[in-house]
Amino acid sequence: MKNKFTLILVLFLYINLVNCDYYQSKTIVPHDLPNKVTHLHFYYFDIHTGNNPSAVIVARPNQTNEKNPKKSSLYGTVFAIDNPLREGPEETSNVVGNAQGLYVSSSQSEDVTLTMYVDYAFTSGELNGSSFSVLSRNPVREPTRELAVVGGRGKFRMATSFALIRAHFLNVTTGDGIIEYNVTIFHY
Ligand SMILES: *[C@@H]1O[C@H](CO)[C@@H](O)[C@H](O)[C@H]1NC(C)=O
Ligand SMILES: *[C@@H]1O[C@H](CO)[C@@H](O)[C@H](O)[C@H]1NC(C)=O
Ligand SMILES: *[C@@H]1O[C@H](CO)[C@@H](O)[C@H](O)[C@H]1NC(C)=O
Ligand SMILES: *[C@@H]1O[C@H](CO)[C@@H](O)[C@H](O)[C@H]1NC(C)=O
Repeated sequence: MKNKFTLILVLFLYINLVNCDYYQSKTIVPHDLPNKVTHLHFYYFDIHTGNNPSAVIVARPNQTNEKNPKKSSLYGTVFAIDNPLREGPEETSNVVGNAQGLYVSSSQSEDVTLTMYVDYAFTSGELNGSSFSVLSRNPVREPTRELAVVGGRGKFRMATSFALIRAHFLNVTTGDGIIEYNVTIFHY
């Protein structure tokens, strides 16, 4: 009996040592999945310049990265946003909602990454009052990025989803950008 137990223990330890990957995946059969899907397409206007910027710096580190030019000079900077969402990429295009929240320049390397904590709310049509929430990295140097959507309100209650985004326009000097969003939202 004791030997059997020891053998099992040894086997268990051995399996754990061999299997040192930090993850395991398997296929499961889910029940009770969201049964609705909504596709959204809009443009997010991230404007840092002009008389009424919608993206503003609210905090930044008090040290520069002069000692390490390989580091991003933006690292640690926190922005607050109330960015309009428009149907099209033109400044005159209809506003359909706004994105409110924060993003922080979160990578120490030269490749700027913004980690976003943003709620995207709609103000027009059937989606008026509904919103979805993004909590995700946004590696801005990559042409097309995927953002994780972690929940929502109104029609998007219990949402689970992702957004694919790409810059339609970007001024790297000022930070002004017009970003195209395709969002696929699974909800109830
Ligand atoms: C940053 O803050 C520290 C602590 O308050 C202060 O000693 C230092 O002088 C500041 N550095 C700059 C560049 O302002
Ligand atoms: C959206 O909802 C708000 C609050 O219920 C309401 O005041 C506003 O008129 C609505 N807008 C549209 C375009 O339906
Ligand atoms: C969004 O979808 C449209 C239509 O399928 C496509 O033309 C466009 O390239 C997509 N944009 C992004 C950023 O995925
Ligand atoms: C970016 O903004 C700067 C400062 O306003 C301006 O001089 C430059 O022409 C702009 N570049 C583009 C591509 O719009």
